[in-house]
Amino acid sequence: MRLFGTHRQAPVCDERLSHIAFIMDGNGRWATHRGLPRTAGHAKGARVFRKTLDWCREAGIRTATYYAFSSENWKRSQAEIDAIMDLLGQYVTTAEQEVKKNAISIAFIGDLSRLRPDLVERMRALEERSAHHEDFRLNIAISYGGRDEIVRAANLSFADKGAPIDAEDISRHMYTECDPDLLVRTGGELRLSNFLLWQSAYTEFYFTKTLWPAFSKRELHRIIRAYYRRHRRYGGV
Ligand code: FPP
Repeated sequence: MRLFGTHRQAPVCDERLSHIAFIMDGNGRWATHRGLPRTAGHAKGARVFRKTLDWCREAGIRTATYYAFSSENWKRSQAEIDAIMDLLGQYVTTAEQEVKKNAISIAFIGDLSRLRPDLVERMRALEERSAHHEDFRLNIAISYGGRDEIVRAANLSFADKGAPIDAEDISRHMYTECDPDLLVRTGGELRLSNFLLWQSAYTEFYFTKTLWPAFSKRELHRIIRAYYRRHRRYGGV
């Protein structure tokens, strides 16, 4: 990591931090604390999502994976589900220009079979149009569950080559191309909630009480600096 100019707050990451993942928790509480409906928290959360994407790119990170909707989130009220799907739809509509300008390739990861078919069609089209972009990779996890992803990868591996399958087979069939170096969870809960279970075997975790809609560039920079102070040993000494 390098630090820009005289200000401490602008880290530039190297290959030690090439993939960051976010669990964007706390939207509902942020809204409730302000006497707003939970959906207002998600709307603000979607704006913060876009900002963090810029901050990550500016910091030299090459891949970011966001947990936007879990396989368990289908248990929420229909109104809340619809609001999150609308935000996703708005993002898909407006992302095109940004994606082109910044050479971002997008992948929507998860079980999309439960989403509205017209939305899925637009998501797939955006993926295709952005697939050749090489500067930055954005994964958005929707209707995503880590256990489901592992089962899917095991089935695909088995269909490929039959038993026995090994860890490399599973890794090859994950939705993501590389494992996250750092996973940030906002909102104060200390758990993974079924996110990137396989990929996070050696990931560094950072938990913050900040609610996602209040997450700032300054805090991201603080987290990056804290990450670079850690010593990753991957089981070695
Ligand atoms: C968790 O907070 C957040 C979600 C389940 C939804 C996250 C969705 C967005 C930020 C919008 C996504 C949009 C795009 C375009 C990617 P919570 O509601 O569980 O918060 P709480 O714990 O305070 O109730």
